[in-house]
Amino acid sequence: MKERPKPAARAPGHLRLGVNIDHVATVRNARGTPFPDPVRAALLAEKAGADGITAHLREDRRHISDEDIARLSKTLTLPLNLEMAATAEMQEIALRHRPHAVCLVPEKREERTTEGGLDVLAEETRLAEFIAPLVEAGCRVSLFVNPEAEQIEAARRVGAAVVELHTGSYCDAHHEGRAADRDRELARIRAAARHAAAIGLEVHAGHGLTYDTVGPIAALPEIAELNIGHFLIGEAIFVGLAEAIGEMRRRMDAARDGAA
Ligand code: PXP
Repeated sequence: MKERPKPAARAPGHLRLGVNIDHVATVRNARGTPFPDPVRAALLAEKAGADGITAHLREDRRHISDEDIARLSKTLTLPLNLEMAATAEMQEIALRHRPHAVCLVPEKREERTTEGGLDVLAEETRLAEFIAPLVEAGCRVSLFVNPEAEQIEAARRVGAAVVELHTGSYCDAHHEGRAADRDRELARIRAAARHAAAIGLEVHAGHGLTYDTVGPIAALPEIAELNIGHFLIGEAIFVGLAEAIGEMRRRMDAARDGAA
């Protein structure tokens, strides 16, 4: 079996950028053609400075397909972060491909995108049982949670190594001009990142991030990785994917350096 790609060794404090390629597949699937190819986008993202590739295999297969996951697993030299719901079908797929990381997300068929974090507290026993074989297979398991201390503590109890903090409410507040809500959401993310790191979890963040919202999140020193998709794929229409990723990387690095 092919050796699984691991994150490259980087300078301490390096903030990793995981590029989510789901919406390349969304465009492909709109016409049922083989193009644009998300695997080609992943290879381009690697050259443009991504540290990892994220793909969400949804239950309804609305964008990424099973074949995409198989091809990404074979082709990528970057670590693959497989986002999925905690279902038996997805567990079997993850155990077959053994990606570097598995990020568990809540999923509802009717939603446009992942709407909230996992309710880990409500499902502790089931999630602990679900996660154990993935950890045994060598996958780094991450739970996508709202920035709430109780959810983060539950994530640790069920055996996750990582929490990914949901930045959607912060980004929505920013783009809707609700400055007080944005500041409150940012403070929640800051406190959650500190708490998660203090109890020994690796901290990631993502959802809805753009050039305008990435800085304050990238500046949080506890955060090790950001996962960004929708904005980058949209921006790529205007400037190309490599330029969009390069600019995001520059903004992340500037914020991190400024915070040092
Ligand atoms: N992280 C998680 C867990 C997600 O579900 C998503 C959306 O698929 C992202 C990050 C990326 O969000 P966006 O596409 O809005 O950048």
